[in-house]
Amino acid sequence: MEHSGGEKWSIIHGDTLQVIKSFQPKTFDALITDPPYASGGWKPSEKNRTTSQKYSSMDPENALPDFDGDNRDQRSWTRWMAEWLSDARKACKPGAPVCLFIDWRQYPSITDALQWAGWIWRGVVVWDKLTSRPQKGRFRQQSEYIVWGSNGPMPISRPVGCLPGVYRYANPQNRIHVTEKPLPLMREIIKICVPGGRILDPFCGAGTTVLASVMEGYEAVGIEVTDAYYKLGVDRVRFALEAQEKSEDTAGQ
Ligand SMILES: C[S@@+](CC[C@H](N)C(=O)[O-])C[C@H]1O[C@@H](n2cnc3c(N)ncnc32)[C@H](O)[C@@H]1O
Repeated sequence: MEHSGGEKWSIIHGDTLQVIKSFQPKTFDALITDPPYASGGWKPSEKNRTTSQKYSSMDPENALPDFDGDNRDQRSWTRWMAEWLSDARKACKPGAPVCLFIDWRQYPSITDALQWAGWIWRGVVVWDKLTSRPQKGRFRQQSEYIVWGSNGPMPISRPVGCLPGVYRYANPQNRIHVTEKPLPLMREIIKICVPGGRILDPFCGAGTTVLASVMEGYEAVGIEVTDAYYKLGVDRVRFALEAQEKSEDTAGQ
């Protein structure tokens, strides 16, 4: 399989549905991911728009690359989620936490898929994006959610402290991925994993979770199917970690 990486990280270029079956059982200490939501409307004509049309307000000339896997209807998306989540669970250690980003539309379906796949659903964390488009006579759609759970019982003795239930971070200013998550947010969310553990992100996009993991002292494996984002993700993680290393060297001199 085509892959790239460094000392504590790698990104695999492929389809999660296939790649995930190749991992040894009990390889990972946490599953933390932001899958394609297949959201962005109720009607097929709305859902079947490109990802940049659905999730970005940039003008078409400056649009970021579109990504794959975002056009399934409700039933097929839920079935597909349950399938890879089931294989991912086998690749995770007993007690490993799972965190899944999602919007309000797909929230009911993702909690079904998680449980069908055999994970214990434990709750939901709010990501307050701080800003959003005002809508007359309606509440703002200002939050996304992190549905979380564990692979069987999750011992209280794990060396992980108390974590918040709400995180407040604005969307990244200079995104390289249409639905890129804020790096500071990911640096907080991954702390659900045991210190130094190995984190799997099967939909790693521009590599935000992978980068956050290595910056916080974890190991990380990402999977990405879209050619453009596989390349962008690998370059971004490599460049950011090299820059961090250089600034640590300079500070140490
Ligand atoms: C919501 S985005 C993740 C963005 C990421 N959190 C970031 O900050 O850059 C989902 C990603 O999953 C990828 N994807 C979709 N279907 C996939 C599949 N079957 N296997 C692997 N990656 C897939 C898409 O190409 C997209 O980049």
